[in-house]
Amino acid sequence: MSYQIAIDGPAGAGKSTIAKKVAKEKAFIYVDTGAMYRAMAYYLLCRGVDPLDDAAVAAACMEADVTITHEEGEQVVLLNGENVNSVLRTEEVGNMASACVSKNPKARERLTTLQKAIAAKNNVVMDGRDIGTCVLPDADVKVYLTASTGVRAKRRYDELAAKGEETDLAQIEEDIRKRDEQDMNRKIAPLKQAEDAVLIDSSHMTIDEVVQAILDLCK
Ligand code: DC
Repeated sequence: MSYQIAIDGPAGAGKSTIAKKVAKEKAFIYVDTGAMYRAMAYYLLCRGVDPLDDAAVAAACMEADVTITHEEGEQVVLLNGENVNSVLRTEEVGNMASACVSKNPKARERLTTLQKAIAAKNNVVMDGRDIGTCVLPDADVKVYLTASTGVRAKRRYDELAAKGEETDLAQIEEDIRKRDEQDMNRKIAPLKQAEDAVLIDSSHMTIDEVVQAILDLCK
């Protein structure tokens, strides 16, 4: 049996940074499920699909073949065989993933099946929105990682500033609120804390403190 660590939480809570570090410590595979939703969103944007046209979105999601591999410990997302890692982290792709792909039942079904198959064969740290509730309901460790909206917005602002991108903090906070609202209120697999998940609020914790707290849960 594989060992499964599920980390869910809202955008900007630090899930991917933390999950990567935990995976490294445990020598497990890290699976960023958000990147899979983003790859489908990128496909829709490239095709110019109208996000309000549910039928067109569903059809396009069925054409988009999303898989993952790992190279030197890094997850590589393949969209119809092509490495799309470098184009997934934009606000435009994130908003499309949240507003459109993540609400689509067919897209969710395909990605969930793939995620379950990966976790059945490998020891994993998997992060997302529905890992503890839907994808890996029997995970060995479940964490719901959150932080205040203000802290999450500031972290995102600093991340973009470090890349030389000028942004507006208030706008980022507004986008985060909107994303939370969409993720928590969608009909299928909404973001919520699993009953047996441990809540970690990282607002006033360092990355290493959060990593240690999760490693302690694995003991
Ligand atoms: O974690 P992220 O920002 O890369 O995720 C992008 C979007 O994908 C997010 O707004 C909601 C969706 N998502 C989801 O619905 N279920 C997951 N397991 C992961 C992400």
